Amino acid sequence: MELKNKIALVTGASRGIGKSISIALAEKGAIVIITARDLEELKKTAKEIESLNGRSHIIPADLSDEKQIINMFEQVKKAFGKLDILINNAAVTVTGKLVDFSSKDFDSIINVNLKSVFLCCREALKIMLAQKSGAIINISSNIVYKGYQYQAVYCASKSGVLGLTRSIANEYQKEGILASVIHPGAVDTGMIAQARPDIERSLLMLPRDVTDTVLYVLGLSDRAWVDEIVVRRRAAKPF
Ligand SMILES: NC(=O)c1ccc[n+]([C@@H]2O[C@H](COP(=O)([O-])OP(=O)(O)OC[C@H]3O[C@@H](n4cnc5c(N)ncnc54)[C@H](OP(=O)(O)O)[C@@H]3O)[C@@H](O)[C@H]2O)c1
Repeated sequence: MELKNKIALVTGASRGIGKSISIALAEKGAIVIITARDLEELKKTAKEIESLNGRSHIIPADLSDEKQIINMFEQVKKAFGKLDILINNAAVTVTGKLVDFSSKDFDSIINVNLKSVFLCCREALKIMLAQKSGAIINISSNIVYKGYQYQAVYCASKSGVLGLTRSIANEYQKEGILASVIHPGAVDTGMIAQARPDIERSLLMLPRDVTDTVLYVLGLSDRAWVDEIVVRRRAAKPF
């Protein structure tokens, strides 16, 4: 897919993997709508993009709030009239033994990691269906296949993202819409520092490694697509 002048929306663009993806898409010529809650950090992402002669458009939003998501896509429609690429990347995690896990933490993880992905896909699809094209890439996690301890609810949320992506891919293929899911292993961001402080930092992937995976999927010819990719750090156990 040619990325020049494509309209892409990246969630969780204020830091970590989402920031890296946003900058890379803008470097390839896409106009990148960047969203997260932290406006100051979003401005830093936008500034980096600008310094590379890229183009971005900030829409701050709290993805745990359906109204803010609907409003964000209204703004996208108004500003650009189309949406070519959606990268659902924003997520949160809380670690702890399941027996001690509160339903408040359960709700907050599911709201951001799964419900917001459903809502963003739903709203994006309304735009993409009208134009009969579009690509959705959802960032899940290799925890889906590993089921690490103390992260059961995060794992459940990411398994939900996998299921959602599979069904969307089948439901909208005939409408010209593509959906893919990427499952990263451990990446050096704030999230992993909190969730897996046991992993030696030098053995982690960098956000750029996930970004390269996104670029690979989007860079395929019109003949090919990738449904699902697991990308792990080399130090981790294969499969
Ligand atoms: N790091 C890893 O090892 C790893 C491994 C596997 C999968 N992943 C996945 O990769 C993705 C990116 O993770 P990361 O490591 O880059 O995480 P991160 O550094 O913690 O960044 C998370 C992003 O999500 C945004 N976000 C969180 N809650 C939000 C909310 N309520 N509304 C809007 N935005 C919200 C944050 O922005 P604000 O705080 O500004 O809102 C931030 O931009 C996630 O889906 C994660 O599950 C990460």
